[in-house]
Amino acid sequence: MVKANDNYLKLPGSYLFSTIGKKVREYSEAHPEAKIIRLGIGDVTQPLAPAIIDALHKAVDEMGVRETFKGYAPDLGYEFLRNTIAENDYRSRGCDISADEIFVSDGAKSDCANIQEIFSLDNKIAVCDPVYPVYVDSNVMAGRCGDYDAASGVWSNVIYMPCTAENGFAPEFPGETPDLIYLCFPNNPTGSAITKPQLQEWVDYANKVGAIILYDAAYEAYISEENIPHSIFECEGARTCAIEFRSFSKNAGFTGVRLGFTVIPKELKAGDVQLHPLWARRHGTKYNGAPYIIQRAGEAVYSEEGRKQLKAQVAYYMDNARYIYNGLKEAGYTVSGGVNAPYIWLKAPNNMTSWEFFDHLLEKVNVVGTPGSGFGPSGETYFRLTAFGTKEATVEAVDRIKKM
Ligand SMILES: Cc1ncc(COP(=O)(O)O)c(C=O)c1O
Repeated sequence: MVKANDNYLKLPGSYLFSTIGKKVREYSEAHPEAKIIRLGIGDVTQPLAPAIIDALHKAVDEMGVRETFKGYAPDLGYEFLRNTIAENDYRSRGCDISADEIFVSDGAKSDCANIQEIFSLDNKIAVCDPVYPVYVDSNVMAGRCGDYDAASGVWSNVIYMPCTAENGFAPEFPGETPDLIYLCFPNNPTGSAITKPQLQEWVDYANKVGAIILYDAAYEAYISEENIPHSIFECEGARTCAIEFRSFSKNAGFTGVRLGFTVIPKELKAGDVQLHPLWARRHGTKYNGAPYIIQRAGEAVYSEEGRKQLKAQVAYYMDNARYIYNGLKEAGYTVSGGVNAPYIWLKAPNNMTSWEFFDHLLEKVNVVGTPGSGFGPSGETYFRLTAFGTKEATVEAVDRIKKM
């Protein structure tokens, strides 16, 4: 008889954002007059920049002409985009990454969820706590995480690296040696970043213990400080221990357009198996390439006009981040993040739990954020606000919280 993949049945309850959505819907139905401001989900609000719209229009027109029409894209992405990425994101920063080590995809979520497929089920993963839920959930689906303990919110076969106020929201080397280490900097949800020497220590550690770092740099465009690395490949030795995920969602507003890429250096090995051909095989078998139109839009992100416009877009969101950070600080909250990332991480006041503070904010001032406990046990009593709202909504939300 047919059997389902019962690893899926191990996943706890409903997804964090569905629970938030349900609570907001119920509140809204009971209080139809409430003007709710959503600073919860990390989705962008600004329209695509003109340089990107121009590239999209041009590519659409090409698709309507026999001579320039394109069918299936090359498995790993068009050369024009991979060369542009290699030059602008890597070589210009002194990173030794070539175009054929770049795999273009429909976004970082699918890549960082799918990457675990090329590793043995015996591998043990280490994650930051709190963490972007996709890393753990994708490993649960594969059957790598053991059992879930609902009371503590932890999986029996996952190594957790608590990121707390005490360690500056930066993970420490775990007591038990992991095989796969998920790191995300600038971080979602805490908004923290680590310096290049700190990241270098992780690279040295991974090379020493024979682990691989799965490095999610989806928020690199928000880095404002000099000593924060934009790529793990800025660190010496990363080519033998790291895979990097990048997204066009937050640096260029592509959340609804979908584009990202993964970098796997040719020398990277698991034991004596080279990983680049494995991911190439996986990509070729299970994915038919990001659309030509979208890859041309991605190329425009790096054009002179595109860069200028997107710098302004990132600055717009970071003005929001500053406004939230400063406003909450003035109001007496303990806040962090918001300097190299579009997320503000705050401590719920008066010993409230994350969900208590969620209800409090929703009911008292009609502002929606994300409970920190939804990202892992160490997120309990914390709360995330995003800088991706419009300026008007952000100002209004902060002013309401300040008056609360
Ligand atoms: C840490 C992190 N990685 C990846 C993603 C997903 O990126 P994409 O839109 O490219 O799938 C997100 C989106 O919120 C994220 O926060």
